[in-house]
Amino acid sequence: MKILIAASEAFPFCKTGGLGDVVGALSQMFSRLGDHEVALFLPKYRNIERGAFSLRAISGNFLIPVADKLETVSMSHVQWGKVSVYFIENSKFFDRPGMYRTQYGDYKDNDERFMFFSRAVLEGAKFIGFKPDIIHCHDWQTALVPAYLKTLYQIDSFFVKTASVFTINNIAYQGMFAKKAFLKAGFDWNDFTPDKFEYYGGINFMKAGIIFSDMITTVSPTYSKEIQSYGEFGKGLEGVLKHRSKKLSGILNGIDDEIWDPVSDMFIKRGYDAKTFAKGKAYCKRDLLKECAIEENKELLLAGVVSRLDNQKGLDILCKVMPHLTDKMQFVILGAGDEKISNALKKLAKIYPKRVFFKSGFDEALAHKIYAASDIFIMPSRFEPCGLSQMIAMLYGSLPVATKTGGLKDTVFYTGEPKDSNGFLIDAANEKSLRSALGKAVSFFKRKLLWNTMIKNAMNGDYSWDKSAEEYLKIFKSIQKDS
Ligand code: ADP
Ligand code: GLC
Repeated sequence: MKILIAASEAFPFCKTGGLGDVVGALSQMFSRLGDHEVALFLPKYRNIERGAFSLRAISGNFLIPVADKLETVSMSHVQWGKVSVYFIENSKFFDRPGMYRTQYGDYKDNDERFMFFSRAVLEGAKFIGFKPDIIHCHDWQTALVPAYLKTLYQIDSFFVKTASVFTINNIAYQGMFAKKAFLKAGFDWNDFTPDKFEYYGGINFMKAGIIFSDMITTVSPTYSKEIQSYGEFGKGLEGVLKHRSKKLSGILNGIDDEIWDPVSDMFIKRGYDAKTFAKGKAYCKRDLLKECAIEENKELLLAGVVSRLDNQKGLDILCKVMPHLTDKMQFVILGAGDEKISNALKKLAKIYPKRVFFKSGFDEALAHKIYAASDIFIMPSRFEPCGLSQMIAMLYGSLPVATKTGGLKDTVFYTGEPKDSNGFLIDAANEKSLRSALGKAVSFFKRKLLWNTMIKNAMNGDYSWDKSAEEYLKIFKSIQKDS
């Protein structure tokens, strides 16, 4: 199969969160499982991590209409293992400090930036002569690709055999814009109807992705049910999803074992496995506490957090609970995003300098150290499509304390019996439930044998992509047009 993946981020080139991890890992998995040709299309942001890669410019360029202007596209290429990575270049849209926003909010022209990118993916495929059997798109930034395929490109013979899959990594970000964005994208007025693009008088990119793709997936079985149920999870798209229910499935994310491996991790002080974790983690803990300049005290439980600072993640709830726990626990927190949450964490670090360390920003190395050093990993998420952090934490022997929702519910198990538990569950994202779950963790921590049993369960779990990548490929095959 020829598989084209279109996304707004992919590790190791550009990443703001789990989406980047997922797109990077899946591209590699598809290229290794069977005889598939994989092309990954990304925007060429200013800060693309080039690392050991040298990008090769492809000669020539082409034009994409956005509103009443023609925008120029040039492309560059890099071979990443068996994956061909193509960057869509346009300095007006992508040569900026951030990927989606400044510290003050989203870029005002995000509608134009990503309608441009989506259409440039299709024209770019033609430009390089890559005729995909499947286009796999992720989230609102590439949701217009299936819509273009079924409208403006329906009569384009280049794509006659192309089917599309749309993956919802997070329905909270939908790409909603005013009506004029619909016109800028070049669609036909006749399609501005509630069963297609129209959404409360404007356009909703994610809705278009759901409606026009051949198959829809989301990133965990529980989240696929949650987003169809009436209530807070579907964020207004539950009706549309219910309507397409037969085409929707939940496939659990995995984690990339080449990046995340406590045995060979270059960022941590000492590698360890499920047999040697006690010594290994103790080294890593000492090292991290020293680096963060907080007190070394074996009696205290070390709680780690590595997270986007966003209402979704419930860290405002954690801020309220922390002052009640500083006699039993220490906190090392790494996070980037919302200023209000960041300020609250800074304040706590100031009040409790021996117990709380907070770093604002994105820091890959520190993230690895926190997973390895911590005893527990806190995720009081209000909703969580899948969550990778809890799986990384478990692989590193840090027991998650996570809300019973979405992918957290599908991966973290607590029965009250350590022999069949790998973490602690928070019943609901509120102070009372978080305090109660953390209380359980504190009391279990004192019973070393039981604690170690849970760590072994966590570390021995299967978080690989093997099964899930096969599930995606099965879906791709089922909609392949010439099969
Ligand atoms: P989400 O995609 O909602 O942010 P996930 O749990 O799926 O949450 O994935 C988060 C990913 O981003 C993990 O790999 C995590 O380690 C990483 N991450 C989040 N915040 C930071 C940060 N400030 N610095 C480094 N890595 C981070
Ligand atoms: C989103 C979700 C997260 C998920 C990630 C990758 O950012 O918030 O739960 O793990 O995408 O699919």
